[in-house]
Amino acid sequence: IHRPEVVLVTGGAGFIGSNFLLYMVPRYPEVQFINLDSLTYAGNLLNLRDIEDAPNYRFVRGDVADAPLVERLFREHGITTVVHFAAESHVDRSIMTPLSFVLTNTVGTVTLLEAARKAWGDHADPERFRFYHISTDEVFGSLGPEGYFTESTPYNPRSPYAASKAASDHFVRAYWHTYGLPVVISNCSNNYGPYQFPEKLIPLVILNALENRPIPIYGKGENVRDWLYVRDHCTAIERILLSGQTGQTYLVSAGCERKNLELVQQLLDLIDEELGRPVGQSRRLITFVKDRPGHDFRYALDASRLREELGWAPAYTLEEGLRETVRWYLTHRDWLEAVADASYRAYYEKQYALR
Ligand code: NAD
Ligand code: DAU
Repeated sequence: IHRPEVVLVTGGAGFIGSNFLLYMVPRYPEVQFINLDSLTYAGNLLNLRDIEDAPNYRFVRGDVADAPLVERLFREHGITTVVHFAAESHVDRSIMTPLSFVLTNTVGTVTLLEAARKAWGDHADPERFRFYHISTDEVFGSLGPEGYFTESTPYNPRSPYAASKAASDHFVRAYWHTYGLPVVISNCSNNYGPYQFPEKLIPLVILNALENRPIPIYGKGENVRDWLYVRDHCTAIERILLSGQTGQTYLVSAGCERKNLELVQQLLDLIDEELGRPVGQSRRLITFVKDRPGHDFRYALDASRLREELGWAPAYTLEEGLRETVRWYLTHRDWLEAVADASYRAYYEKQYALR
C-alpha cells in the first residue's frame, strides 16, 4: 500500500528508534532515512555506529517541536514518510517533570503533523505519503485481572506520560479526519532488548545485579506488564508501515504477560546462569519500595488485527528475548557504563532515595 522513499525517523537515537534504524537501513538500501533526534539523556549516537556511514542514512540533531527546522527538513529532503518515535518516554520522570512531556510528546507531534500537512497538502496520496505515529498501550489506562485492550478501548490515560501520548494520538487522528493526512498509529506493549536506557525495569535490574545493588520493586510486585522483544516490535512497525490501512490503529503485543516480581525473578536467574553464579543467588537483591503514584495495575493487548490482517507474528518467546537481552548487556558493558553516567546516578538517587 505504501512505498517509502525518504523517511524521517524521529527519536532514532533512542531505544526503539535505534533498533528500528539498525534493522531498516541495511534492509532497504534504496530508501533514504533521516534521523531527527535532539539527543536528550535517552538519545545516544553510539547505538547507531553500525549504520552511521551508510549512504542511505543521515543524522540531524534537532527538536521535533522546532517548527522552522522541521519544515525546512520536509522542504529540503522531500520527505514522503514519517515514523515518529521521538518522545519523553519514562513514566517516573513524567511524575517529576510533566511539562517536558507535553512539549515533546504533544506539541512536538502537532509540529510534525503541521509540517507534513504543509508539505504534502490535503488528501495526500497514501501510496506515496504516510505519517506513522508510534504510541503506547498506556493511553488506555489500567486493566483489572481480566480482559484486554483492543483498538476500540476508550482512552483513559492516568500518568502525565500517558496523557501526553493520548493527546498526541488524538491529534494524529484529527489530522486524518480533518485534513485527510494519511496517518497510521500503533499502540505497543512494554518493549525490552538492546540499547534500552537503564531507568526502565529490565535494564535497571541487569545493571543493579551486575553492581550487586538493591533491585527496587514498586509495591508488592504484583502489577502486570505485557512484554515484547524490541526486534519483534521493529518487524511489526515494518509491516504496519508498508501494509497498514490508512487511518487505522494497530495494537502490538506478543501476549507475554508477567507479574513484575515473577519477571524480575526469572531475569535474575538468567543473569546468574549467564554469569556462572549459583542460580537464585541474585534474588536476595530484591527490595520492595514505595509504589509509583497512580501505578497502572495491568496492561494486556489483543493484537489480533495485526496478526490476522497483516500476518505479523513475534519471533521470540519471552525466555529467548530475555536471554538475548542479558547476553547483550553482559557483552556491552562499555555501553552501559557510558549511559549510567553522573546524570543517571543523580536521577537514580532522586527517584529511589525518597522511597
Ligand atoms: P527513548 O526514551 O529510549 O528514546 C526517545 C528518543 O527521542 C531519544 O533518542 C531522545 O533523544 C529523543 N527525543 C526526546 N525528545 C525529543 C525532541 N523534543 N526532539 C527530538 N528528539 C527527541 O524512548 P523509546 O522507549 O525508544 O520509545 C520510543 C517511542 O515508542 C515513544 O514514542 C514511546 O512512547 C513509544 N513506546 C515505547 C514503548 C517502550 O516500552 N519503550 C512501548 C510502546 C511505545
Ligand atoms: O506499556 C508501554 C510503556 O512501557 C511505554 O509506553 C513506556 O515508554 C515504557 O517506559 C514502559 O512503561 P512502564 O512504566 O510499564 O515501564 P517501566 O520499565 O518503568 O516499569 C515496568 C513495571 O515495573 C511497572 O509496573 C513499574 C515497575 N517498576 C519499574 C521500575 C523502573 C518497578 O517495580 N521498579 C522499578 O524500579
